[in-house]
Amino acid sequence: MSPTHVRRIVKPIVFVLALEPFLWLVYNAFFGDLGVNPVETITNHTGIWTLRFIVITIALTPLRWVSGFNPLTRFRRMIGLFASFYGTLHFMTYFVLDQSLQFTGLWDDVVKRPYITAGFTAFVLMIPLAVTSTQGWIRRLGGRRWNLLHRLVYITALAAVLHYFWKVKLDTTDPLFYAGIVGVLLAARVVHRVRRAAASAPVPVRREA
Ligand code: HEM
Repeated sequence: MSPTHVRRIVKPIVFVLALEPFLWLVYNAFFGDLGVNPVETITNHTGIWTLRFIVITIALTPLRWVSGFNPLTRFRRMIGLFASFYGTLHFMTYFVLDQSLQFTGLWDDVVKRPYITAGFTAFVLMIPLAVTSTQGWIRRLGGRRWNLLHRLVYITALAAVLHYFWKVKLDTTDPLFYAGIVGVLLAARVVHRVRRAAASAPVPVRREA
């Protein structure tokens, strides 16, 4: 698949698909179809989609290693920005509709409720990632420092899974499912690094007796 195909055809399709959860919300809000507790529906819907987009973002590179399909990495920025978009909607739903824009209420929750502490940590860590996702920032920071900063996405993913796990309390099947995927993706990263380091290590010279 040529870069032009990716840019002109596949990217717009992925963009529209990624927008679908938002359009679902708008559609159901318009027709008053968000259930008995619309705030809870909006918070949970945006929360789970934030987590899904975080997981897809960190899955793209390992999927490229496995499939050899290089264009996959071209979607990392777009999908990462969708994660930030849904994360912002999720946070704003809570802050505006639950906390009525009160910073003291937000801070009390962040300090006293562990699941909010974890969610807030995940959200705050996403901000520098979204801000520095442009080519300009890659140039300004340099590839090495940029890559180092963007490893924060793994801490975001872990904090997000913990937030979900602590939030559901009883049936932990779904949080464990996401924790499993994040665990496998993290392990894939570690294995890849170890293999690369081993491949680039100098081969010892054997002296003949
Ligand atoms: C990367 C950041 C975040 C992710 C991935 C995330 C993800 C999630 C998920 C998956 C759920 C449960 C959905 C379900 O049960 O179907 C949830 C619920 C919730 N989240 Fe987050 N969250 C994040 C950040 C935050 C932040 C910053 C806050 C507030 C400060 C927050 C507040 C809440 C609340 C209050 C609920 C429960 C809603 C309810 O049941 O009424 N989250 N979140």
